[in-house]
Amino acid sequence: MSKLSNEEINNIRNSVNIVDVVSTYIPLTKRGKNHFGVCPFHDDRDPSLSVSSEKQIYTCFSCGATGNIFTFIMDYDHVSFYEALKKVADIGGIAVDIGYTKPTVQKYGELYDIYETAQLFYQNNINTEYGFSAKEYLNNRGIDEAIIKEFGIGLSLKDNEMLTKLLKKKKFSDEDLIKSGLVVNNNYGHNDIYYNRIMFPLTDISGKIVGYSGRTFNNEDTSKYINTKETPIFKKGELLYNYHRAKDECRLKKQVIIMEGFMDIIRAHSNGVKNVVATMGTAFTKNQAVLIKKLAPEVIICFDGDNAGARATIACSNELINIGIIPKIIRLENNMDPDDYIKEYGINRFQHKIDNPMNVMDFKISYLKNNRNLDNDSDMANYINDVLSELVQIEDDILRELTIKKVSEESGLDIEIIKNQLAQKQDIKKPVTAIAKPIINKPKIIDKYMMAQQNLLYYMLKSKEVITVYNKKVSFMPTTRYRFLAQEINYFYKEYKYFDLADFFSFIADKEDMLKTIGEIMNLNLKEEYTLEEIDEYVNAIKEFHVNNECNRLVEQMKKETDVMEKAKIAEKIRELKVGTNL
Ligand code: CTP
Ligand code: MN
Repeated sequence: MSKLSNEEINNIRNSVNIVDVVSTYIPLTKRGKNHFGVCPFHDDRDPSLSVSSEKQIYTCFSCGATGNIFTFIMDYDHVSFYEALKKVADIGGIAVDIGYTKPTVQKYGELYDIYETAQLFYQNNINTEYGFSAKEYLNNRGIDEAIIKEFGIGLSLKDNEMLTKLLKKKKFSDEDLIKSGLVVNNNYGHNDIYYNRIMFPLTDISGKIVGYSGRTFNNEDTSKYINTKETPIFKKGELLYNYHRAKDECRLKKQVIIMEGFMDIIRAHSNGVKNVVATMGTAFTKNQAVLIKKLAPEVIICFDGDNAGARATIACSNELINIGIIPKIIRLENNMDPDDYIKEYGINRFQHKIDNPMNVMDFKISYLKNNRNLDNDSDMANYINDVLSELVQIEDDILRELTIKKVSEESGLDIEIIKNQLAQKQDIKKPVTAIAKPIINKPKIIDKYMMAQQNLLYYMLKSKEVITVYNKKVSFMPTTRYRFLAQEINYFYKEYKYFDLADFFSFIADKEDMLKTIGEIMNLNLKEEYTLEEIDEYVNAIKEFHVNNECNRLVEQMKKETDVMEKAKIAEKIRELKVGTNL
């Protein structure tokens, strides 16, 4: 692996402005010196992430996420430092040869290796004579060679021990075979779980295969899809089908479309609509909502046109609204799913649908009208109540006004009455958030030694003068994580003869704990200026802590000592220590 110098890394970092790059990921608004956006690294709807053009760093004052453009991309895209570096270099137009980046040894490596072997096997199968009817099936559904390849679609053979044999030959342990969900241990020994199915690889958000879904294609009797069981690396609720393929397109279009099935995705993608991901038919989770939030500001739900799809649309939009996203909705006629729809009416008509989605309240309104007779007063009252309950969740003034107007027109009730009703519901909702907030932000009570370390670190991050003081006067910090940080700052300063926080972030980009500690320190928000007297106070507090510690240790030692002369010596040591620091 070719290693870049600190200078080359800094040049790459300086080739872009963090504000420009971050704003391709999340919307930012300028307020004062800094830009603000909703932090993508925790579950929030307030703009707590501040991005500084001057310092070229970002900091979230709610969750403490902090770093430079590299760590932002690492965290956001789940990539390594070198991948982030490469991406920034590309944006900045800097040619770099990072060379081969050795994959880090990873947990569950054997599972990934098993899927890699299985993938080669399945993909090969579909291209042999055994794959003829599977290909015919796919081709009939409009899935051609190129798409088969792009989506890694393969085939498990009729003989249900082929993969098991292959994996055993490759010396994977029986335990790992079972763990992978591709092999079962039954009365006949070890066998393949998947046979005679078209295999769709399922990938995690970085694109690594973590499981499979196998579809029947010539046997109507068995279940349509069989999915790999959940493993430590495969949790259906934590991934979205097609995420890694779609993410760049979503960012470019600033729009993501959520569908239910992978056939829908493959159809849309192969017709050029590539900003699509799928839930794979399971209940949409909060985890998935957070993933979606990272992809794009505009979210469109386009589930199956049947009733189940409508119910799933409600559930999905509620998960999204919970984390502050107001989705838009597409409903397809005649119970069609996106796959059917595109096949039947063509991509242009589908694209027209995407360009004209419903707002989520209109969809909820039509959903809440189902099975209700609005000529009946009590049905109408319940209906209005339900609509307002939904509306309370939505923080969008325009959408609120529009909905209130609609409800008023439908019911003949005065707008003010409806607004009052809504306000009452809001009051009921409010106390919950009002209580919840302070608990999160409750300041921790800390002793003066903690404070001294934190304050000292705060100014070390801002001034090399303070680094020098630390270097001269402090042997080490008592608290481990502060000690590591101080050492690292010191090391950087000694090595490169300057200190710049944005550059320092590149230096420690892989050290998640340290980044967290810096976030914690920066969120102290101390005053800009410091005096050397204050710095000395912190230094002395740390010294005092060490002396106290040492004294306590000596007192214990003295207690155990039986020799009177030795006891006296220790007492003298203690006295000297205390005099030295005026304790
Ligand atoms: N699904 C599943 N198991 C099933 C049925 C469905 O895991 N028995 C998941 C699959 O991920 C599927 C999604 O739910 O893609 C949506 O289901 P469905 O609409 O029935 O499948 P389609 O994607 O439409 O597949 P096809 O067109 O091949 O029927
Ligand atoms: Mn379908």
